[in-house]
Amino acid sequence: MSTVTEAVASGPSAAVKKIAVVGGGTMGNGIAQVFASSGFDVQLVDQRQEFVDRALGTIGRNLERVAKKLNWESDRVQAILQRVRGGVSLEAARDCQLVIEAVNEDLAVKRRIFEQLDALAPAGAVLASNTSSISITELAAITKRPDRVIGMHFMNPVPVMQLVELIRGLATSDATYRLTEDLAKRLGKTPVEVNDYPGFVSNRILMPMINEACYALMEGVASRDAIDTVMKLGMNHPMGPLALADLIGLDTCLSIMEVLHEGLGDSKYRPCPLLRKMVKAGYLGRKSGRGFYDYTEAAKA
Ligand code: 3HC
Repeated sequence: MSTVTEAVASGPSAAVKKIAVVGGGTMGNGIAQVFASSGFDVQLVDQRQEFVDRALGTIGRNLERVAKKLNWESDRVQAILQRVRGGVSLEAARDCQLVIEAVNEDLAVKRRIFEQLDALAPAGAVLASNTSSISITELAAITKRPDRVIGMHFMNPVPVMQLVELIRGLATSDATYRLTEDLAKRLGKTPVEVNDYPGFVSNRILMPMINEACYALMEGVASRDAIDTVMKLGMNHPMGPLALADLIGLDTCLSIMEVLHEGLGDSKYRPCPLLRKMVKAGYLGRKSGRGFYDYTEAAKA
């Protein structure tokens, strides 16, 4: 769990006080939470007010859990929550020094958002994307500030996972890299520098394992539980690949495999037909209540 500290205003990111997070889903609300917990003012933007409200509710519940565990003084959660403002307009980016886009893995949507952010955010602001596989170089090229565009790839669950993969597009400047590196450290995270390439490092390695687990299940090599148990007990993974796919979202896993397949042109990255079928059925994992496992209340009971 990230430690909760006030932001220390020194280093390459000292001027960053206010950030915007675009997209309040699993990743976006986690990113907003860790920034607010580290003393930053956060504007959380989503398409509809109900999505914003849901994201704020999730942040509140997660913070309450941390507060209980760490015996925080009673007003600390409220103080953090007050730093997060929700809204439905990208105009919120106007007075931010950093904007992190964390919407679905849809290139057309991301392109539109980057175009708008480039027009709205101050000229010196850095535009980051939490994309899990879309090219940072391509997103940067949409803007008039490609030197100030970078990938800040957080891991799910964001408040718990230590890594931030920092992806340099072709034009990303050293100053932009150093600023985001410093910011990640201020969040209590560990930044790792990676170049823009399909899947970066994390998903280049993780997703083929998850895809292979889907093939093993589809081909009847073993049951769901057996596959996950082999990887948990045999390789000391905290969760099995099928449970992890459910945590990440099967639609996200599929779109990353498609980016790897298309971007690297090697058939070893072909998405498993079972993964495709499950996404078509709407079995997206935890977020839809059903994936390889069943998360409905009935199943829990
Ligand atoms: N939000 C906030 N905190 C959470 C959380 C969530 N969604 N889920 C769990 N936690 C916290 C718990 O409160 C607990 O905190 P504590 O240790 O301070 O009490 C801690 O995490 C451990 O949780 P649990 O005891 O409930 O459960 P586990 O010990 O089984 O841990 C897990 C859960 C942290 C999810 C662990 O199973 C894990 O690390 N799994 C692997 C996760 C992983 O690989 N993530 C990367 C996915 S890839 C990715 O994100 C890239 C993208 O591009 C696809």
